[in-house]
Amino acid sequence: MNIKNNLILALDVGSEYEAINICEKISDNIDTIKIGYPLALAEGLEIIKKLKDHFGFKVICDFKVADIDATNEKICEETFKAGADAIICHGFVGPDSVKACLDVADKYEKELFLLTEMSHPGAKMFLQSAADEIAKMGVEMGIKNYVAPATRLNRLQDIRNIVGEDAFIISPGVGKQGGDAKKTLEISDAIIVGRSIYESDNPKLACEELLK
Ligand code: XMP
Repeated sequence: MNIKNNLILALDVGSEYEAINICEKISDNIDTIKIGYPLALAEGLEIIKKLKDHFGFKVICDFKVADIDATNEKICEETFKAGADAIICHGFVGPDSVKACLDVADKYEKELFLLTEMSHPGAKMFLQSAADEIAKMGVEMGIKNYVAPATRLNRLQDIRNIVGEDAFIISPGVGKQGGDAKKTLEISDAIIVGRSIYESDNPKLACEELLK
């Protein structure tokens, strides 16, 4: 995925009004938006097309899909039908569940991102010990895109070593969660930033500070 400035905005606001307002301010700096449950539950999946039509953004849906294969297939169908360019699925559910997502992404000629290790402290308790195996599974399945944490650079590097230089990694955790943009981008292909941009009094300036 080609991402302007290697910067993805996590648009976790609660209304279309707020979303459009923020996007108007940052659309010179950013062309790829990640939406998750906060905005999708507030405004419905129609928000995907609205953001794409209004701003020409690429939209990654962070639905952390993590169900049985049959249900994952339905979730991905609805998401890609609504216009998403990519969806994030969890890896801990295993290959059958992940393959269901991959098959739907392939059918729509869209992208799947496999979530390996999460960025928050709690991920150390259960997910971290499985993350290398999740990444290896992704490689075996031919998955090209991964999510790995900006908050633990050693773990980001471990996951890079497993998935290889040709894989595409996006990393949440920069800013509010403590991750550093520059150091993360030495390993990762793009950073995902939410609150440091959309909670800023000047979101455009916040983007520019990050890009420095
Ligand atoms: P902040 O406000 O912390 O937002 O900059 C970060 C965004 O990224 C999401 N997030 C994750 N998504 N794997 C994911 O797929 C992760 O490990 C992860 N950690 C944070 C978070 O929901 C928010 O949208």
